[in-house]
Amino acid sequence: MSKLPDPAESRQVDHAIEPLIYRRWSPRALSGEPISEEELLRLFEAARWAPSTYNEQEWRFLYAKRETPQWPAFFDLLMKDNQTWCENAAMLVVILAHKVFAKNGKPNPVHLFDCGSAFENLALQGTAMGLVVHGMAGFDFERAKRELKVPDDYDVAAMLAVGRPGDPENLPDKLREMEVPSGRRPVKDSIHEGPYESA
Ligand SMILES: Cc1cc2nc3c(=O)[nH]c(=O)nc-3n(C[C@H](O)[C@H](O)[C@H](O)COP(=O)(O)O)c2cc1C
Repeated sequence: MSKLPDPAESRQVDHAIEPLIYRRWSPRALSGEPISEEELLRLFEAARWAPSTYNEQEWRFLYAKRETPQWPAFFDLLMKDNQTWCENAAMLVVILAHKVFAKNGKPNPVHLFDCGSAFENLALQGTAMGLVVHGMAGFDFERAKRELKVPDDYDVAAMLAVGRPGDPENLPDKLREMEVPSGRRPVKDSIHEGPYESA
């Protein structure tokens, strides 16, 4: 049984939005239980329906489920701090982004942007399914590229961990203290009508 807090109880939303959006967060307390193949496919199905420039669908997902022969290669890419809690993840994913347009091989300036949309779709779907989806930049990008045999026309965009929520009491002190849903700066500090210079 998860003892994780529900972000809906602490996050202050200043303007009415869909609760699924602010219920998504990035806890590190994971139970170590596996996810089913059906759950795995539902997550990637959500990513599949993300918008992308010219419907390029630049995302590719390499994944490893825990206790499979694939797992060590993915787990070893993570920085130590991430390994501490990811040892209880059910799945690790490396997101790849196709750098060039499929139809003409020219550079695609929004390949990483579109992969971010796919990540958020996957994260929201995971939230709706009661799973943890936690994005990560704390890993060795160069080794990921080399050791996972990523072709030259792909960037390594990010990693993510998926798992079932666990008990924060089982985290090391430093991580347990961080196990609180974060806030955000006010929307007015992120937007400006007109050019940046006059902000
Ligand atoms: C691309 C990306 C990289 C991240 N890298 C890490 C990471 O390496 N380790 C970690 O513990 N959290 C990581 N996070 C989680 C962020 O710290 C978290 O999303 C942010 O603090 C906002 O909190 P929330 O997701 O709980 O709303 C990452 C998130 C994203 C989207």
